[in-house]
Parts: sequence; C-alpha cells; structure tokens
Amino acid sequence: MSSLKTIATVNQKGGCGKTTTAINLSAALAETGKRVLLIDLDPQAHATIGLGRDPNSFPRTIYDVLTKPGVAMADVVVRTTIDRLDLAPCNVLLAGAELQLATVSGKELLLGAGLRGVRDAYDVCVIDCPPSLGILTLNALVASTDLVVPVQVHYYALEGLRRLLDTVGIMRQWFHPCSVENIGLLLTFVEERTTFSRQVQQQMRSIFGDLVFETVIHRNVRLAEAPSAGEPVLRYAPHSKAAIDYRALAAEILQVAPQAAEPAEDRIRRGMQKQVSAIFQGAWIPRRQRSPNPVGPRPPFSLEST
Ligand SMILES: Nc1ncnc2c1ncn2[C@@H]1O[C@H](COP(=O)(O)OP(=O)(O)O)[C@@H](O)[C@H]1O
Ligand SMILES: [Mg+2]
Repeated sequence: MSSLKTIATVNQKGGCGKTTTAINLSAALAETGKRVLLIDLDPQAHATIGLGRDPNSFPRTIYDVLTKPGVAMADVVVRTTIDRLDLAPCNVLLAGAELQLATVSGKELLLGAGLRGVRDAYDVCVIDCPPSLGILTLNALVASTDLVVPVQVHYYALEGLRRLLDTVGIMRQWFHPCSVENIGLLLTFVEERTTFSRQVQQQMRSIFGDLVFETVIHRNVRLAEAPSAGEPVLRYAPHSKAAIDYRALAAEILQVAPQAAEPAEDRIRRGMQKQVSAIFQGAWIPRRQRSPNPVGPRPPFSLEST
C-alpha cells in the first residue's frame, strides 16, 4: 500500500460539492506548503476544467495510466498555475475505462499501483471521484487513506450514504489491509441564516459526532464563479468566506486524527441505524416522503451507478 496521504472526495450523488472540494482542498493544502497531486477521476473532467485546462489538450491522461501498462502516473502529470499543485488530468475517454477494465483482474488496484510511482514526489494526493460507485470510484477507495464525503444540507442529504459505507466495508474485506483510515462527512452548501440549514447541521452532529468535520462549507457564489475563471477560489477570491472555509478544512485534515478502534463506516452506519428516524423528522422531509421502514434490509451490493 502507498504511504502517501491520499484523500478521495466521494459520494455517488452528483452536485454535492466533490469537485469543488477536491480543487479547493488541493489548493489550500498546497498553500500550506504541501506538494499536492490532484487526480481527476471523473470523465466529466470538471476538476481539469476548473483548474483552467482544456481536457482535450493532453496527449495522455489518467485514462492511459489505468488502461495501458506502459504509462506511468508521472507521464501524465502537469503543472498548474498554483505553486506546488500538480494535476493528473482526464477527459471523456475515461468513461470508456469502466467498460474496458470490467474483465481485467485486479482492476480495482490500478490507481493505487500508479500512485506508488509518485509517492516520493508529493505529500498529499487528492482524488476527485465521479458520481457513481463504479470501477473508477472503487480504484479511488482502494488507493485512499482518507475519504471526504461532501453532504449537501438538504432533504435527501443521506440518500445513498449507506450504500457508500457498505462499499467501503466490502473494500476492507477484499483488500486487507485496506488503507482507508478516516472517513469524514463534510457539510456543504451551509446557510447559517436559515433555520433549516442549522437544524440539519445540529442533527448531523448529534448523530455522527466527530465523524462530521468541524469545518463546514458555506453556500458561496464565489465557488460557483471560480471554475469559469479556471482558478481555485483561493486564487479567484482569496479573502472570500469560501476560501476561508477551505483553508480551515485543509488545516483540520492535516491535524493528526487519533485512530478509532471501530472502522469509521461502521460508526457512521451505527449512527444511521439508531437515529435515522430522527434525521428524517420535522423539517427534514415531508411526512409523505418518509420511508415506512428506514432501517430495513440493505440493498445487495452492486457496482452499478445509482
Ligand atoms: N458551497 C457552495 N456554494 C455555492 N455553490 C457551490 C458550492 N459548492 C459547489 N457549488 C457549485 O455547485 C455545483 C456542483 O458542485 P460540484 O463540486 O461540481 O459537485 P459534484 O462534483 O459533487 O458533482 C457547481 O456548479 C459548483 O460550482
Ligand atoms: Mg464532480
């Protein structure tokens, strides 16, 4: 296993802030003096575009690392305009990797193997995952030491979370010792002024305790604007609330976390089983949408996207 601290932003839900977090956490870590590699593992290439690069301008991308044995990570890495931040870009070709790798044995280990080749060149690697639990995300889970799960504070915040946690648990069994040490839930799109957003935040903290990052990411229009300028918000609007939030997240992640006896996904799942009805009460979800059996049998494990 690579000893490189590797942080995946993961959640099979789209639009919850994975890419925004991957870009800005990477930039904030680089700002602290760390040498950072950001891997764009979503065929939509939003991290590549968000850093001002044209996805179709690269002779080789992370796709080649995963599908061609002769291509090393160092062959595809490019510099960015941010000091100490490098990018392993991708483009839409990466979508073909899911199918192409389907029958390859050890297909979940390819990214981790690629990362071993650059572990001395970087202090931290950040991986931006696609909104699915397919082979690309499984590669990220196997290669990662830390998972940051952005959770948008709204009605369906915890939808799909159980499936993600089950997948991490299965990864742990298949790939022993699995290198995932920490899983943190990151509250995104937080609006301190709305009662609803405050309630959701309080509920999440009372249920999941220290598994929720102390740092929250507020809803901030600068975060939506920055990608069109091709810059992290830390460069685009360095004094914005958004830049301050992501600097705080980087600082929190760099603190040494004490190792918990119980795997984090089990702790989160236990919280969900005990308290899931509390999460869905009151302002969370209209009565008609509540599940009659919120702690019922788990869906069978499947690698398909949701
Ligand atoms: N905290 C935020 N405040 C305002 N807009 C945000 C915030 N986080 C993300 N966005 C915007 O929301 C959209 C979805 O975010 P993104 O990071 O791309 O999600 P994901 O990668 O999970 O699909 C993007 O347009 C992004 O610019
Ligand atoms: Mg994304």
